[in-house]
Amino acid sequence: MADARPIGVFDSGLGGLTVVNELIRRLPHENFVYFGDTGRVPYGNRSRETIAKYAAEDAAFLMRCGVKLVVAACGTVSSIAPETGDRLPVPFVEMVSGGAVAALRETRSGKIGVLGTAATVASRAYERQILAQRPTAQVTANACPLFVPLVEAGVTDRFDPVVREIARRYLAPLHAAEVDTVILGCTHYPILADVLRDGLGDGVRLVNVGAEAAVAVEAVLRSRSLENPQETPGRCRLCVSDRVASFSELASRLLGAPVDAAEIELVDLDRL
Ligand code: DGL
Repeated sequence: MADARPIGVFDSGLGGLTVVNELIRRLPHENFVYFGDTGRVPYGNRSRETIAKYAAEDAAFLMRCGVKLVVAACGTVSSIAPETGDRLPVPFVEMVSGGAVAALRETRSGKIGVLGTAATVASRAYERQILAQRPTAQVTANACPLFVPLVEAGVTDRFDPVVREIARRYLAPLHAAEVDTVILGCTHYPILADVLRDGLGDGVRLVNVGAEAAVAVEAVLRSRSLENPQETPGRCRLCVSDRVASFSELASRLLGAPVDAAEIELVDLDRL
């Protein structure tokens, strides 16, 4: 029997649309509700307690929308507060588990790089999961605090000298460690994939954790008979905690269809 309830996806802001994009590509007949906490972004430089509290509130909002599964698109939440899922009455998918498995699948040398926010890198969540599965792997992680504001400001062109120079600096430790696989451990980084590919060179594989999460979501839906195999494409409801000028433009770009600013719902978490 079809289960038409939506899949809930949350992120600290607009970057999680990269994950929604992967989910829609893989599961076009599913319905989605996206919550971007644009009023409290960024999460990546906050304390563990605050990140866990925000994540619980974001997931609670999605539960009120009647979702059948919750996806933490945010790399920071996935690294710092994966226990968010323990308190939910529906399945929960985060980004770290799938990203770690994919990196081990892709690497030939066992030398893996991780790029993420300061909180994600400090948590060593990817490193722990990778080493638990392959103790001989070598993980080199680097925080890239300027990438998020660059993406939010629309500075993502692969030939832009500013973004190229910043990428060059962030990638230097990964070059020194001779990694052959790099996990894009933050929602925003797939938008910079061309710049990162140029900076890393042809021999290095990028792991898009959103694409891996979409595979995991599909498997969970199938194993629990939660799929929605309808004929027509699903709907995607977009909710934010503050109006952000670039949101509808980025949503249109990433979701492949025009998203009018009027379609984006403003949610006040304090009033729920
Ligand atoms: N969404 C966050 C992440 O994936 C990046 C932005 C932030 O710092 O909140 O880690």
